[in-house]
Amino acid sequence: PIKKQELQFIKELYGTKARLLWSGYLRRDPVARLQLEPGRLDPYPLYEQIRSRGRVSRTPFGHFVTVDHEICNEVLRSRDFGVGEDARDKSLSLLDLNPPDHTRLRRLVAPDFSVRTIGRYTPRIEAVLQNLIKDVPRDDPFDLVSVVAAPLPIAVIADLLGIPDADADEFARHGTEFGSALGGIQSLAHAQRLAATRKRLAEIFAGIFELRRKEPTDDVVSRIVNSDGTVRPEEMVPLCTLLLIAGFETTVNLIGNTVLALLSNPDQWRMLVEQPELAERAIEEGLRYDSPVQRTGRLATADTEVAGVPFKQGDWIMTAIGGANRDPAVFTDPARYDLHRDNAEDHLSFSGGVHYCLGAALARLEAGIALRTIVTEFPELALAGPRERRPGSLIRGMQHFPVRAPRS
Ligand code: HEM
Repeated sequence: PIKKQELQFIKELYGTKARLLWSGYLRRDPVARLQLEPGRLDPYPLYEQIRSRGRVSRTPFGHFVTVDHEICNEVLRSRDFGVGEDARDKSLSLLDLNPPDHTRLRRLVAPDFSVRTIGRYTPRIEAVLQNLIKDVPRDDPFDLVSVVAAPLPIAVIADLLGIPDADADEFARHGTEFGSALGGIQSLAHAQRLAATRKRLAEIFAGIFELRRKEPTDDVVSRIVNSDGTVRPEEMVPLCTLLLIAGFETTVNLIGNTVLALLSNPDQWRMLVEQPELAERAIEEGLRYDSPVQRTGRLATADTEVAGVPFKQGDWIMTAIGGANRDPAVFTDPARYDLHRDNAEDHLSFSGGVHYCLGAALARLEAGIALRTIVTEFPELALAGPRERRPGSLIRGMQHFPVRAPRS
């Protein structure tokens, strides 16, 4: 049960929505359930309920919701929609900004995340993976998340942000704690821990900023702190924090969700064992089939129309990309994980338009190499007991994923 003080805190955080969330009526509504239920929830039947109401429907909060691929795609790309002013956590930088502020920051950091720049991380990613898998116990169950899927993106993003080795463990702890906010604030104690974490992360970043001001290198943090005013001083920590969280909380789930989809469809796993060069395709279909980010939302900034549906300025629409990825109008037999699907890349898992995931190339590279390594090293990999899902329904993935890797 939630204490009165905690409820007050949550109300302040979520505004009027919090009062509505506790009403029994809303618990029965598919959209409200999506936002309320713990991560153990299977969202896909709820998406189908939403789909059966029409291409766009109203939520009990008065918002719009859609799982329609064409409408999601158009809304995300439209200039008549932006990210809302009332974003819950202002510290998430680019994601909370509209042009021109968004454009100013995004232009500065985009070159550091291009396919070409990111390609330079290939040897580093391979080395990290080799180091991780050498500790995998043979025959005994192990947790794929904590042993492989989580430490890889953590190591890569720490590298990218220039975190000194001495701070790496502490940084990983704080990053994981901070990222837990994406699953929703669980209690007052959780909120207090987050505040302390935020403070400590800001201190760690301040130390790195200092170093990069004195001795700039060719990295993204040097560009941020020596940008001649393009990045305002108060924007530096939030921008780096976003890069950190985005790097920590998503790729781990892409690796986990794709391995789960493959092991649950043994014919697909065997196909990959025989042709590990299909790993990138398997990841692309993993993105479509069970997206690590399940939804986002946009605010209409003008009266407009999308696919014949009128919107008024100020209307808010939830674009449920996890549902759009299973739109039968775009994907044949959408609930099937199919390595050979020829249009898996039409998924919306990296969103679209100006907020299209900055880290998409990095996520694809890390997850592709990880999956190829896993399938090559452990062709007999098998599920080993019940999995525990992460709390919250925005980010979809596993907290613990027990598997076994018998010698072949
Ligand atoms: C934005 C998904 C990995 C950095 C986004 C958005 C989505 C997304 C859906 C846009 C949200 C919206 O439109 O409202 C994912 C998925 C990933 C992943 C599924 C992995 C599987 C990464 C990585 C990084 C990253 C590794 C890099 C450090 C970012 C940033 C933004 C973003 C900075 C904000 C872009 C902007 O607003 O201009 N991501 N992401 N992401 N992502 Fe990713």
